[in-house]
Amino acid sequence: MSDPLFDLDGRVAVVTGGSGQLGRTYVTGLAERGARVASFDLVPGEEVEGVRSLEVDVTDRASIDAAVREVVSAWGVPHVLVNNAGLDSPPDAPAEEVGPFEEYPEESFDAVLDVNVKGAFLCSQAVGGEMAREGRGSIVNISSVYGLLSPVQELYEFRRAQGETFVKPVAYSVSKAAILNLTRYLATYWAKSGVRVNTLTLAGVWNDQPHEFLDAFATRSPMGRMLDAQEALGALVFLASDASSYVTGSNVVVDGGWSAW
Ligand SMILES: NC(=O)c1ccc[n+]([C@@H]2O[C@H](COP(=O)([O-])OP(=O)(O)OC[C@H]3O[C@@H](n4cnc5c(N)ncnc54)[C@H](O)[C@@H]3O)[C@@H](O)[C@H]2O)c1
Repeated sequence: MSDPLFDLDGRVAVVTGGSGQLGRTYVTGLAERGARVASFDLVPGEEVEGVRSLEVDVTDRASIDAAVREVVSAWGVPHVLVNNAGLDSPPDAPAEEVGPFEEYPEESFDAVLDVNVKGAFLCSQAVGGEMAREGRGSIVNISSVYGLLSPVQELYEFRRAQGETFVKPVAYSVSKAAILNLTRYLATYWAKSGVRVNTLTLAGVWNDQPHEFLDAFATRSPMGRMLDAQEALGALVFLASDASSYVTGSNVVVDGGWSAW
């Protein structure tokens, strides 16, 4: 039996970065709850019943507009936008990206800010504006504990023990902190138009990381483990659905207690 509070039947959702680890979880989870879901990603994703995969670069307004037109003509104006597309420094990032702050490349800073901040800004402009004209909608901006707090550099000690230089870079943290106030700005801007805007903040997600990293993370985490991607879904469904009808401008933190001590 579906719960009307959390019902997404017939809703239309756009998930950016829908081909990634968390994006796939959101696309499938929303579709399983009755929503029609469009994934906007550089990389094509799986198309199943109720899911469309559109090739979109979230840093390019023309590319976003073309995809939004396609969604609107097929399904109507979206009810939900999840600004999830993101860049972080991958484990195999070139040495200069994970070197000392003083040497962090300006181009890397621009690239991360472009996707993580400008991408969310442009998609909110394109989709949120349409939602406001309809007088309803929910935007969920994805942030990270690294946007609330500084990265714990000790987590990466094992990389240094192997003789590498490794500093978790600055751009990701700066970009994820910016998301918090993009949310507050848009929440108040659209509050009377019926468009709610919230942040969903996550801790590190389990992705078969090296055991030295998992052990260090577990020591630092009150719950003693990383987030399973599926555990982000409950809060997303809450924020996307009418269950959160009076929630706007807020930050739902799903971090196993990471920020509590
Ligand atoms: N994985 C974690 O530990 C973690 C923790 C906290 C928050 N987050 C956040 O969750 C979100 C998703 O992370 P993930 O771990 O699934 O990452 P991921 O790398 O698996 O997926 C990101 C997706 O974004 C897409 N993308 C990148 N640039 C794009 C662009 N210009 N246009 C369109 N799509 C683009 C990529 O192709 C990819 O499919 C990110 O915003 C990330 O910051 C992740």
